[in-house]
Parts: sequence; C-alpha cells; structure tokens
Amino acid sequence: MSDYIIAIDQGTTSSRAVLYNRQLRPLASCSEALPLKYPHTGWVEQDPEAIWQSVLHCIRQLLQQNDILPEQVAGLALTNQRETTLLWEKASGKTLYPAIVWQDRRTADRCQALKQQHETSIRAKTGLLADPYFSASKLQWLLQQIPGAQQRAESGELCFGTVDSFLLWRLTAGTVHATDASNASRTLLFNIHQQCWDPDLLTLFQIPAPLLPEVRDSAADFGHCSTGLFGHPIPIVSLLGDQQAALLGQACVTSGMGKSTYGTGCFVMVNTGAQALCSQHQLLSTVAWRIRGDTCYALEGSIFMAGATVQWLRDKLGIIQQASDTEALAEGVDYQQTELLIPAFTGLGAPYWQPEVKAAIFGLTRNSGKAELCAAALRSVAYQTQDLLLAMAEDGIRIADLRVDGGMTVNHCFLQSLADLTQQTITPSQHSDATAFGTAFLAAWQLGWYPQLSDVTLLWQGSAQFTPKLSKVQQQSCYHYWRTSIARLLVS
Ligand code: G3P
Repeated sequence: MSDYIIAIDQGTTSSRAVLYNRQLRPLASCSEALPLKYPHTGWVEQDPEAIWQSVLHCIRQLLQQNDILPEQVAGLALTNQRETTLLWEKASGKTLYPAIVWQDRRTADRCQALKQQHETSIRAKTGLLADPYFSASKLQWLLQQIPGAQQRAESGELCFGTVDSFLLWRLTAGTVHATDASNASRTLLFNIHQQCWDPDLLTLFQIPAPLLPEVRDSAADFGHCSTGLFGHPIPIVSLLGDQQAALLGQACVTSGMGKSTYGTGCFVMVNTGAQALCSQHQLLSTVAWRIRGDTCYALEGSIFMAGATVQWLRDKLGIIQQASDTEALAEGVDYQQTELLIPAFTGLGAPYWQPEVKAAIFGLTRNSGKAELCAAALRSVAYQTQDLLLAMAEDGIRIADLRVDGGMTVNHCFLQSLADLTQQTITPSQHSDATAFGTAFLAAWQLGWYPQLSDVTLLWQGSAQFTPKLSKVQQQSCYHYWRTSIARLLVS
C-alpha cells in the first residue's frame, strides 16, 4: 500500500524533503543548506549541481532514516524558489552556466530600457513588470553571453527551466521537460490570460520557442522518477511555485484570503479567484494554481530581503551567532529608538521596484548597538509588509486575517512587531512549513485522497494570534519615518 507523500521544497538557501502520511501529518524531514555566490555587485548565483544533489540526498535520507520503501510513496510533490533561471543541454543534461538566482540584478539596465515602450503590454499579458527579478531578461542574458547558445537554442539543442523544470528533467532522466502554470507565470514570457507562452514576448526577449518547457496544470502527471535514482519509479504528481504552495498550505482557497511567508524574502499573496486583478499600485498578478484547466489567480507583493536580512546580521556583521539571537536582543528596544534599516541589499521590490537602490541605515547614535540593529532588521520586514498591505488596500483588497508562515515566524518578537507596525491581527500557521504542506496537499488531491481542494481548510490550524500593542498614533509616526527615509533613497 502506498501510504506516503514526499514533498520537496527547494528554496533559495536550502532544500528540504518532508514525509507526509495519509492524514497529511508531517512525520519526518531532512534538509540541506545551499550556498549562494555573489561574483559581482548585484549578481547572485547558485551551483545547479549542488541544487540537484541536495534534493537527491534529502529524498534518499528521508527514505533511509524512516525505513520507507520507495514503493510506499504514492507521489512526489515539488515546490521551489521561483524565477531562478537555468539553461542546460538536451542531450547530456549538463547545465551551461550557474543558476541565475531571482535576486540577481545584472539585467537591471535591460529592464530599464524596456520600461517606457513595453511595460504596459508586459503588464497586460503577464501581470508582472519589467524587472530583473523575473526570468526573461536573465535567460536573454544567458543566450547572449554563452558562445553559440542563441543558435543552439534555436535548433532545439538546449532547454530552459526554472528550478522546478530542472529538477523534473533530472528526476525523470531527461524524459520530461515541463513546468506548471504557477512557475510559468513568473518568467515574464507567459500570457496569464491565454495560458500560453506569448509569441510577442518571446520576440521581445529573443527567446526561441524550442527552448521552453511544456506548461501543465499544477496537479498533473509529471512522469516518474527514473528507477535508477531510488530503485522504484515514484510518480511526480504536483508542481507549484513556493509562494503559491504556501497560499494553498495556509488554506487560502477562497477569493480575498491572504498569507505572508517569511523565508529568504517575504511574499504577501491574496487569492483573487478566477479573476486576474490589474493592480494600480505596483503589485503583481500571478497564477496561484491551475487545476483541471481552471486557473486561480493571486495578487502578490514581493519583498526581496526578509530572513536574508537576519542572515546578513549573522554572516556579514557577525553581531549574532544564530538567527534566533535576534529575539532576545530586539525584545527590549522601544519604538522611540531612531535606528532604521532599509534592507535594499538587492534593490527594492514591491511596491517601489527600484533594482539599483542600495541598503542604508538611518538614525545611528552613540547608543546604537547590537540590540538596536537587530530590532531595526526585524522591523524593516514589518514595515515592508505594511507597504504591501497599504498597496493592496489601495487596490481595494483588505486581508481580514493575515496568516503568516516561514522560518522567521518562530520569532515572537518579530511577530509582535508585525502586529504593531501593520496594526493588524497576525495568525501564524501551526505548521511554519506551509509551503511543503501546500504542495503535499495538492499531491494528495491529485491522488484522490481528498475529493475537493477546499478540504485543505479541514487540515489547517492557526496558533496563538498576535494583536497590536502599539497605539495607532505611534504606529503612524513610526511608519511616516520609514516612508520619508525610503523616499531619500529612491531614484526618480
Ligand atoms: O520569488 C522568489 C521566491 O520564490 C523565493 O522564496 O522561500 O526562497 O524566500 P524563498
């Protein structure tokens, strides 16, 4: 009897495999950290082989350590860091260049040049903006920089993929070159209304069609793992971008429900049902999932540095040993303190979209120390969340109950800042791992274990809520300081 699902969550800084039973309880997990490389200012890369090997190790370890036979696994569910761009040879499966990570800004100039003439049509077709965050300009850069690549792409010798496609290709030993609609919707090449690769955008970015993966529903038959990998052809049954997976994992299955996930970055996402909203306030429209041909859309605000800001405190400033140290240090810092960190280390995402802006710290005094910097780092994530919630409100969307998840949400000091600075009730999910759970649930639905997608609400549970302790007047004054400080950095 095949009683288990394995969910793979291939994130920016780690890969994880989680084992679920039929009741979708997480029984065990394995994870492996992944390094990022910064070869030049604004460049962010990753070794594709390290990504692949980490996923392979995590699955093998999970099976071994829990005495699970691959035959007992009914399906593999995949979720991943989005937009990260890979290019490989069809014949050998060998990648031609490191993975260009979503945070990479090397194509900022190219995107800036597109803005004036093409942004309106890019927006109308893809729901996105002309920004280096997305895959298209990264892929164009690869084709132009790697000798012979453009020509080889045209003759069908190469494959492009985001991390989901790359892993699928490797897992199926090169027999399946596919993606799902949620991942495709992050490339800047996919028409989210017509649900196909857009010929005008392919021309604009000079992308040959033979390079592209086939776009399937998010729950579908994605083939089987090659028998050589685990000794049995485990079926691959769901694929979903990580933020979309968290939206499902937080049981946001009806229009108007939203979540915020605090991983490397932070992504606020609201389900907008069958309607793709066109934001007037610099938010993104994207595919939440496509199931049996029906597309569910979402409105998204993307922040590039959340947990990554805490990593910076640890790895570059060395003022903490581990991320959790920030909790005790920041706890006693009151809101009168003037230190303010704007973590534009890889530019600013929504709602500013300024790839060239650099990070800054304002308001340092002789009294500024570790504690104040930790508080400023945690609060910077809360302020950015407030930026997004305001932009959504201006678009007419108010999230009544903000469900939160991701690594940073184990930090109660951060969650209290979030409630204070957004003046909103915050509900953490009982699983901080909503991403893996979301894709596992989709797999379970595809396997027929649950008849309806809305059954995910039966499995969702929140934990103790956080409510604002800061007065509205104080919050407004703090937020005003944030907005005026950020305005000093923006390039007009
Ligand atoms: O869009 C980028 C996003 O998918 C990365 O997610 O979890 O690595 O912060 P994460």
